Amino acid sequence: MKGKFISLEGGEGSGKTTAIAYIQQWLESNNIAYLMTREPGGTPLSEQIRELILTPRKEPVNNTTELLLVFAARAQHIAEKIQPALNQGLWVISDRFIDSSYVYQGKARNGDIQVLNQLTQWVVGENKPDATLVLDVPVEIGQQRVIERQHQDRLDKESTAFHQKVRDGFLERADAEPNRVKIIDASLSLEAVQQQIETQLNALKHAWSDSEGGA
Ligand SMILES: Nc1ncnc2c1ncn2[C@@H]1O[C@H](COP(=O)(O)OP(=O)(O)O)[C@@H](O)[C@H]1O
Ligand SMILES: [Mg+2]
Repeated sequence: MKGKFISLEGGEGSGKTTAIAYIQQWLESNNIAYLMTREPGGTPLSEQIRELILTPRKEPVNNTTELLLVFAARAQHIAEKIQPALNQGLWVISDRFIDSSYVYQGKARNGDIQVLNQLTQWVVGENKPDATLVLDVPVEIGQQRVIERQHQDRLDKESTAFHQKVRDGFLERADAEPNRVKIIDASLSLEAVQQQIETQLNALKHAWSDSEGGA
């Protein structure tokens, strides 16, 4: 039986990494075997590419270069980690995945959506997430939450206008694919955010066990 793939999306400081820890507890208490991972990254080579992408540098980073680095990391991540885990029947949980490419390299950097669609078809193919939770917060709240971070990466350092496009981009992804992409109001308290996540996870578990029973 193939596993299930859930991605966590949202801007900087929306609470993705915090949510992942909560999801891990939920998976353990539900006795579901899982693999936690993140993008860009997830394998040693992909984590090296992550460093290349996120390290602040003097040299301007060309948009096409950034896009191809993200997809290069993703190709390795899928081949070496995600696909094998799904084939073993695990639930795979990724801190960011393909929607981040549409939002950052597409919407925020004006990347060509046709190119993104073609790369997605080529690199991701059948390994699209079964469900995606978008943690949505106003940009100012997200920025406030990460202000204490010691190391702001190259994307953290982008302008408020850039981060606004990121937020809008994720909301558009949810509008375009409402069955897969669910919005979590992440401006609320930790408890209220966790409650929404738990509701979504219970619904997914239920839907997926029903569809297996019927197959
Ligand atoms: N619902 C919340 N309310 C207040 N602070 C939060 C909430 N969720 C996360 N945080 C805090 O905000 C910061 C950023 O959260 P994090 O999970 O690292 O975001 P992301 O991974 O999306 O950038 C962390 O210090 C975290 O403890
Ligand atoms: Mg994070």
